[in-house]
Amino acid sequence: MAAQLIQRRDEWRAALDDARRRGATVGLVLTMGSLHGGHLSLIRRARADHGWVAVTDYVNPLQFGDPADLAAYPRDVEADVAAAAEAGADAVFAPSVEEMWPEPPATTVTVGVTAGRLEDTARPGHLAGVATIVTKLFSLAGPVTTYFGEKDYQQLLVVRRLVADLSLPVTVVGCPTVRETDGLALSSRNTRIDPADRRAAGALYRALLAGKRAIEEDGAVERAKVEAAMAAVVEAEPALALDYAAAADPADLSTPATLTGEVRLLVAARLGPVRLIDNLGATVPGRDRDEEEG
Ligand code: PAJ
Repeated sequence: MAAQLIQRRDEWRAALDDARRRGATVGLVLTMGSLHGGHLSLIRRARADHGWVAVTDYVNPLQFGDPADLAAYPRDVEADVAAAAEAGADAVFAPSVEEMWPEPPATTVTVGVTAGRLEDTARPGHLAGVATIVTKLFSLAGPVTTYFGEKDYQQLLVVRRLVADLSLPVTVVGCPTVRETDGLALSSRNTRIDPADRRAAGALYRALLAGKRAIEEDGAVERAKVEAAMAAVVEAEPALALDYAAAADPADLSTPATLTGEVRLLVAARLGPVRLIDNLGATVPGRDRDEEEG
């Protein structure tokens, strides 16, 4: 099945309105293109849930702090349209920057839920750039269910909060991270990993598993101890430069000294020119009944 390629905002809005007028619900997947198995899993999920599936393909300059990273970001709209169609998309919106912003935006969106934490410190302005484009893309789309990867966990928190705070007519669904066999999370940036460094990239996932084991099997509840266990795995790979290894509250990524209940483990590291991020959930084992009563 072919997917329609749309480049103009007014045509995109009309296409989604038409689909709803015909009685379909719309599933929306936002991407920056270079579609891989992670993106396609979101499109397939949208296909399973909805009569009409909309995919956006736009490399958003507002969320890049580093012009070199923006310039090097891979782009191939033609291949994206084919892959999106194969996964079940009905239409792909791939506007130019000038079409998106005839004038640079004077209005921006910042979401405070994770302010100053992890990605917000590592990449100042990045999440505001995401929040601004996502708000605009939601505004163009109207009522939809949208599918976001847990791969970008902090982004997912920001998007959920902005939808709630601004009462946008959007339902946000978080979807599991798709990984390579060694655990490396699929990412458009993985194509820029030097083949000689590829093996080291698997250490991010191994670090997350080490943190999860420390919590769930070894009974660690001190955050510093769990974070040290994760950091050690990344630091054992000379090619990787650790940015952070964190054990955090899954709701807002705050970092209490003692871990309880659900925990989100998050890691970021540089591998040559490529910055990699990943995360995983863990649960602090509950005290059993006897202990609680005793
Ligand atoms: P992008 O990095 O292209 O990712 C688009 C969507 O795919 C996001 O929801 C992301 O979490 C999800 N995704 C990426 N890799 C994944 C993987 N390995 N498994 C599952 N899902 C994965 O995230 C963005 O673009 C942008 O910030 C965007 C939201 C489009 C705003 O510009």
